[in-house]
Parts: sequence; C-alpha cells; structure tokens
Amino acid sequence: MPRLVVDPAFVVGAVDRRLFGSFVEHMGRCVYTGIYEPGHPTADPDGFRGDVLDLVRELGVTAVRYPGGNFVSNYDWEDGVGPKDQRPRKLDLAWRAIEPNQFGTDEFMAWSTKAGVEPVWAVNLGTRGIKEAVELLSYTNLPGGTELPDRRVANGQEAPYGIKVWCLGNEMDGPWQIGHKTAEEYARLAEETANAMRRVDPDIELVACGSSNSRMPTFGEWERVVLERTYDLVDHISLHAYYEPHDGDHASFLAAAEDMDRMISSVIATTDHVKALKRSTKEITLSFDEWNVWRQQDFPGELGLGIREVSPLIEDTYTVDDAVVVGSLLITLLRHADRVKIACLAQLVNVIGPIKTEPGGRAWRQSIFHPFALTAQYAGPTVLQTAISDGPSVDTAAFGRVPALWSTATYDEKTGEIAIFVVNRSETDKLDLEIPVGGLRVAQHLALYDDDRVAVNTADDPDRVVPRVIEGTEIVDGVCTATLPPASWHLIRLT
Ligand code: AHR
Repeated sequence: MPRLVVDPAFVVGAVDRRLFGSFVEHMGRCVYTGIYEPGHPTADPDGFRGDVLDLVRELGVTAVRYPGGNFVSNYDWEDGVGPKDQRPRKLDLAWRAIEPNQFGTDEFMAWSTKAGVEPVWAVNLGTRGIKEAVELLSYTNLPGGTELPDRRVANGQEAPYGIKVWCLGNEMDGPWQIGHKTAEEYARLAEETANAMRRVDPDIELVACGSSNSRMPTFGEWERVVLERTYDLVDHISLHAYYEPHDGDHASFLAAAEDMDRMISSVIATTDHVKALKRSTKEITLSFDEWNVWRQQDFPGELGLGIREVSPLIEDTYTVDDAVVVGSLLITLLRHADRVKIACLAQLVNVIGPIKTEPGGRAWRQSIFHPFALTAQYAGPTVLQTAISDGPSVDTAAFGRVPALWSTATYDEKTGEIAIFVVNRSETDKLDLEIPVGGLRVAQHLALYDDDRVAVNTADDPDRVVPRVIEGTEIVDGVCTATLPPASWHLIRLT
C-alpha cells in the first residue's frame, strides 16, 4: 500500500502568505461587471460589487496583481486618475477593447483595502518606460509636497499608499506583447527603471519579467540575461504558466504540475547560476504571478477580436478535473515555498476566474474556487517534505512516467496541526494511502472528485461541484488510512 511519510523535523520552508495571490487585469469582464459595477444591487457607494467582495474574502486571496497583464504594456496610468467625467475613453491595444477608465489606481487601492488584499503593481515597460514608472510610484508612495503625490492628495487620498511590490513590465519576452523586447533590450530597461524607482522608494520589492511559459524559445537564456543585468536591483523573477488538455490527453493534463515543478526548478537553477557568477550572497526569489488552467485553444488571438466595448473574454467554465489540476498546482507552489514567495491565480473574476458573475445579476464559485480556498485557509506556516513509498506511477505522453500521488504538507507549530494536500493523478485506479501519524487524529478529510469529471458549476446550479467529506478515513495503531478515488484532490487535516 502507498505510504506517505511526513515529519515536522523535515522542513521545506516558511509559507509566504502572498503565495495565495490572484490577478485583476483590465480585460474582458474582470474589472467592469466583475469587481466594479455601479448600479448593481450589491454595489457599495464606490461601485464595488458586494457579492464579489464577499466571495473574494471567502476565497482567501492575500495579494492581487494589477492592472495587467498584456493590458499594462499600453496603459497610461494617468488616464485612470482624477474626476471620472474627465477621463478619456481609449483603445486598449492588448485586447482591442475600449477602456472607459472609470476604474484606475485610486479605485483599485480602495477596492484592495475593502477586499483585505495587498496590491502587486505592474508598470508599463511596453509603450512607456523609466519616467512613467517613477511618476506612478511617486503618485502612490510619496508623501505630499511635490507635484505627483499632491495630485493623489487632490484626488482624495492624503496618506501614501505604500505599495510594496512592483512588477517591471509584463511578459516582455512574448512577441504578442505591445513593446516586446529582446532579453538584452528588456534587461537594460528593467535595470534603469529599477534603479530610478529605488531612488523614489528604496523599500519596494521589484519583480523582473521572466519567461511567459516554459515552451518559449528563450526560456532559461532570458532569465540569465535579465538577471545578469538586474541581480542587485531586483528581488524576484516572474514565471507564468497556463495549462489545458491537448487533443483529449487528460492523463498529461492531470499531471500538469510536472511542468510547473520543472519550470520552477529550472528558474531556480538559472537564478543561482547568476548568483554564482556574481559571487553574490543575495538570493533571488520567484514570483509565479500568473498561473491557472486556461483553454487557450478556444481563444481566437488578439487580431481575431473585433474592436468593442467591454465584453466577455476567455470566460472558461471550470470542470472537476480543472479543480483537481488547480489543487495540484497549489501543491507544487507549496513544495517550493522556500523560493516561491508570490503567486497569482490568474485571474480573479470572470476572465479565467474562480469567481463568475452575471452583469447586474448573480455571482458564484467555479469548481477551482474550492481547492484554492481550502489551501489558503488550511495551509499552515511551514511546509514539510513528504515522501511517498510504494506509490504507483502513471504514464503520460507529455511528461513520461510520473508518480500517481502528488503531495505536500504543512505544519503549524502553535497548534500541532499537519495539513496534507494530495492528488491522485491516476484516471483509472483508486489508491489506498497509509500515513503514519503518531498521536494525531483526523480532524477533517475533504476531497474534490466526481464520476462526471466534466461537471461544472453554473448560476442555476452553483454547488454542483463542491468539496465532499470523505467518510472512513481513520487511524488504527497510529496509522491513518484513506482511500483516494481516481482523479481526485484531497485535504486531510491531522490535529
Ligand atoms: O491572463 C491573461 C493574459 O495571459 C495576460 O494578460 C498575459 O500576461 C498572459 O499572456
């Protein structure tokens, strides 16, 4: 029988709570009719949807990246501040949508305070550069007394926002990016922008752009070139990854965490290579600031989008399998908690989001909401190593033979609780798992799985896919035994 061994003596690292971040981009209906909809029955005086705010808090999101994404690479932040009736309507080149600019920097800060999340801000290094990044940072982080912070004060915000984390552009390695650059071009611009931004506020944390995914032709080399220039100026390097089933290959899809795991290991290796070259004692950490399941095959491409007012874009409806994969990706992020310090489920609402809304109407939880919310709620402060013995394997076309069980565990020294997160990636076999637990007891065993693996939640049936309580998980002679159905995600809490 497979055996999962965990011991508080074997620590991976401390969990940075920013690992449970998400992402709000001016794209489709993420902002407009997503988090912001004046006139909605639940909207507050700022126009923020109350039903969405409640779900965001329930999701347990800790940090939210904003305002893009591809959007940021042609965004003029000045358009989104000041009196709303004087803000311009402009064509956003990333998604070919007309941006009404009724929601901008001050609105996002007000929303993030109400949502209880830390902002992670991206600056435009596509069509703009050093000057605008410095001006935006001055607007948000400096006390009054000079032009830009005084403009913030005039717009109603006396105290500096003190935004801590700043992304130096977005996916600058991608040819689809407005202002796409070679690694050398981007590295120079990131270096100079970082240098100037630090003179405005030396306490900020800076994220250099890494690769858009592990299949990019420049993956690995891009990180090396960028970090050789920016090593002493930045704190984190970014990673992005989206997963979907290809040609009906669900075995590989269920094992998508293999790609994320290998990508993280490769970026750590590259980062530490540059550390060695520089004889540095500083350690660069990782910001996995876009990740999710996204069926990109259904996306027509930017030029396939007609110019239009804000309208639905990539509103994937998530299945049970998608929730299992999202759970396995969270396990992967936790397994690397020593180096991954920020991660953002992309995105938050409607646009490949765990939360879905109707304009003017209902809001509900997609299937992927559940593994995220449970992991954010029950992951303890410290990640522990897990070892699995006698575990079976599954064969995948994309990753070869991989372990069927993918797991991590966290420990809370104060309460003694161990939370085990584990996925059974076999499509066919249920697995009986043994966990030696000493004197602990099973407080809870919840799982996501279904005979109908493509079941989804909808506005009319919002609780079709929810976590199920697993009965029968018990401890005999200090060993916990649990049965994991095929294609399932689990949380087992031992107290
Ligand atoms: O999240 C959707 C898009 O995916 C983002 O705008 C971009 O950064 C990524 O390619």
